[in-house]
Amino acid sequence: MTDQRTHPNSYEARDTASIVHPLTNLKAHLEKGPLVIKEGDGIWVTDIHGKTYIEGMSGLWCLSLGYGQERLVKAATEQMSHLPYYHLTNHKSHQPVIELAEKLLEIAPVPMSKIWFSNSGSEGNDSAARIVWYYWNNQKQPKKRKMISHLRAYHGNTIASASLSGMHYNHASFGLPLEGFLHITPPHYYRNAHQDESEDAFTSRLADELEKLIQHEGPDTIAAFFTEPIMGSGGVIVPPDSYYDKIQTILKKYDILLVADEVITAFGRTGNMFGTTTMKLEPDMIVCAKGLSSAYLPISALMINERVFSAISDESSEVGVFGLTFTYSGHPVSAKVASETLRIYEDENIVEHVTHMEPIFLGGLHLLASHPLVGEVRGKGLLAGVELVANKDTKKAFDPKYGVGKYCADRAEEHGLIIRAIGDTIAFCPPLIITESEIKLMISRFNAALDDTLIMVRKSRYFE
Ligand SMILES: Cc1ncc(COP(=O)(O)O)c(C=O)c1O
Repeated sequence: MTDQRTHPNSYEARDTASIVHPLTNLKAHLEKGPLVIKEGDGIWVTDIHGKTYIEGMSGLWCLSLGYGQERLVKAATEQMSHLPYYHLTNHKSHQPVIELAEKLLEIAPVPMSKIWFSNSGSEGNDSAARIVWYYWNNQKQPKKRKMISHLRAYHGNTIASASLSGMHYNHASFGLPLEGFLHITPPHYYRNAHQDESEDAFTSRLADELEKLIQHEGPDTIAAFFTEPIMGSGGVIVPPDSYYDKIQTILKKYDILLVADEVITAFGRTGNMFGTTTMKLEPDMIVCAKGLSSAYLPISALMINERVFSAISDESSEVGVFGLTFTYSGHPVSAKVASETLRIYEDENIVEHVTHMEPIFLGGLHLLASHPLVGEVRGKGLLAGVELVANKDTKKAFDPKYGVGKYCADRAEEHGLIIRAIGDTIAFCPPLIITESEIKLMISRFNAALDDTLIMVRKSRYFE
């Protein structure tokens, strides 16, 4: 099932070790203390000592419109004074959430029927998993309960969404994943392809792996496949063009639902309103969060197509009530802010802006491909990963214990740039409002951090 475990440049060690860098463990955090941020403006944040940083990760991949969006503050303030709270259970609703649901259905990348609201990406994926089970029970196929997702995927941190995640650190010592949550090789050509394997042969092999897993487990037991159109926390992995076509053919063949986790990729991040469009997916459900409100308030939306909705509607009539809700689902203040966020995306032509910035951003990062530390530069839209390697020719990774990626991110912080080290991949996910000159400044600060890291790597003789 997991070919990469036997591959010489395997992620096995990285899955178990390097992603949890020593400095990210709790003891080290207590010793070092956090970077305490006081305020933000546009793409910039300032810490309590007055030092400013470019927020190159939009916080946790979420602050799409940056700081200081007065329209969002106004939307929240007004809603607070009119109706700070109402709920969506027992046949109740409110105007802000109705307006938001209608807008989301209008802009959905594939035909969708209903929106299910919750408060976070994790709850969105958790709800999707619950709805998948509900659906198959309605279809009189109660054995269809298993979920498949990618190793290195990140789908959240509730028990179900952490089980969907393919990260060692979300599972180890928590007794996860739950039974029936299965993981396949991530579609990362640079890292997981065999030597001399073409992209097409690589994606065929991964599709084959999926089909073998389905057959091994029994097609009548596989309920759904969850995927991030482009994997974020796993190291910004952009699947090869031919990947999803082959995967979706297999899912259709075995009647397996497809859930697109667009928690990072929705709302312009990849150069289209949805990653589903960028990667040519046809999901039954789509999970959105983060950029939905530009992170100004917590909210997530699960889009559900008619096939799934009509089944869960029938099933809930049988059961008597649809037993899935949260107190703050579709909170009116969050919903109002989300609707205003979607309006700003349109008014400011954010998707168009991203497509204009993409060549400056990815082109600028690609210029760094000749740097002695850089193995691969990958990305789409305003989302990118730069993987640092010990040997550019063999793609050999650094020993995770050296913490090279973390060292580089720390140097970037000294140069006034917040980025994220995922093992030795440096992730970039700047606010979508970033300008050409800000992108250039961000990349020059990163370049300085790379050069600092190179000095350390050479001194320490970490190259192989
Ligand atoms: C792709 C993806 N799905 C789900 C989640 C979980 O979202 P939340 O942290 O809002 O629960 C994240 C968070 O980073 C994510 O990146």
